[in-house]
Formats: sequence, C-alpha cells, structure tokens
Amino acid sequence: MTPGRFITLEGIDGAGKSTHLAALHDWLCARGREVVLTREPGGSPLAEHLRELVLHQSMDALSETLLIFAARRDHLRTCIEPALARGAVVLCDRFTDATFAYQGGGREMGFDRIQVLADWVHPAFAPDLTLLFDLPPDAAHDRVAHRGELDRIESEVSDFHVRVRDAYLRRAAAEPDRIKVLSSDQSKETVRSRVLACAMQLLGSAE
Ligand code: TMP
Repeated sequence: MTPGRFITLEGIDGAGKSTHLAALHDWLCARGREVVLTREPGGSPLAEHLRELVLHQSMDALSETLLIFAARRDHLRTCIEPALARGAVVLCDRFTDATFAYQGGGREMGFDRIQVLADWVHPAFAPDLTLLFDLPPDAAHDRVAHRGELDRIESEVSDFHVRVRDAYLRRAAAEPDRIKVLSSDQSKETVRSRVLACAMQLLGSAE
C-alpha cells in the first residue's frame, strides 16, 4: 500500500499559508491521492470546541498550551492516525511546531516544556514534511489587519509575533531536512512552485 504522508504548513499569522494549502491540496488530488485537509487547533468535533476556547476565552499560557495538546490528542486519534493508516496524505494547517513557536516562543514558555508535552501526546511522531512560510512580522500584520475582527492570538502585540517568528526559524534551523523555509516575500507563483517541488521530493519515491 502507498504509505500515508503527513505534511504540515506553518508560519506567523498573515504569512500566506492558506493560499498554498489550497493549491497543494488540488495538486495532490490531481495525482490521484486521497487527501485529508485538516487544521489545528481543531480538525475533530472536540478539538474544534477547544479551538473556540483557545482563540476567544481569556486564560493563562499554561492552560492555553494544555488545551491545545488536548485538542491535538483527539485530532490525532480520530482523524490523523486513521487517515495515515489508510495511506492518505494528511495536509494539516499547523501542528506541534506552532506550539513551539506560539506558546514556547510567543508566550515564552520555553521549548523544553513544550517538548515534554509533545513527547507525552505523540511520542516519536512528527510530520514527514513541514512548509514554513516566512514573512517579517510587520508585513504579515498588514495582511492580517485587513481580515476584520482578530482573535486573541492575532491581536497580540508586535513583540509577540517577533518571538513567534524567531522560534519558528530556530525550529527550522534545528531540523532542516523536515522543515523547509519558504520566503513569502516573493511572487505567489514562485512560492507555489517551491511548495510543489518540496511535495514532489517527498512523494516522488512513493508514487
Ligand atoms: P489559524 O488562524 O492559522 O487557523 O491558527 C489559529 C491560531 O492559533 C493562530 O493564531 C496560531 C494559534 N496556534 C497556537 O497558538 N498554538 C498552536 O499550537 C496552534 C496549532 C495554533
């Protein structure tokens, strides 16, 4: 059976991952793969409830982190793991790298505490490929500002988003084989062809 593959898209809010998620989804479907498009926090009925709390209910950083991992546990068990077992490509809008970046970096919880929870919730499990869309926080903020009402994470101060970006880039530097950094400061077509090249490199040997 064709092996399942787990691909995640990451980046600070406004870095442009949604556009490329849709393009990657269409490209994979055209190759005849079963594709499961999902997101975090969320992706299962319970996890979507928890997403609402995380994005709109005031809480401290530890409660936020624990709710995100509770959502992730349910999402893995009910959606991601069964899909990978069937041989599907799971395309996930954010995963644990986001917790390292937003809670570890942005909320200054530190990477070590996030790693403990990651090891507990999904030991020895990581995406096969992570596409990190990178953009300076000021440029990303200008894009997000046009979206209307912002949630409690999007509306964080600028320093928060600087720390999130820095944490993402540190993750990428530590795992360059898995995490590919794509500068969103280029034309959409250029970024799109890099996205597809990365996907082709991952899936090529399996097709
Ligand atoms: P989205 O708008 O890209 O769907 O993401 C929702 C927000 O949740 C976004 O601001 C990033 C944040 N988030 C975290 O803070 N930690 C996490 O682990 C994840 C997955 C998302």
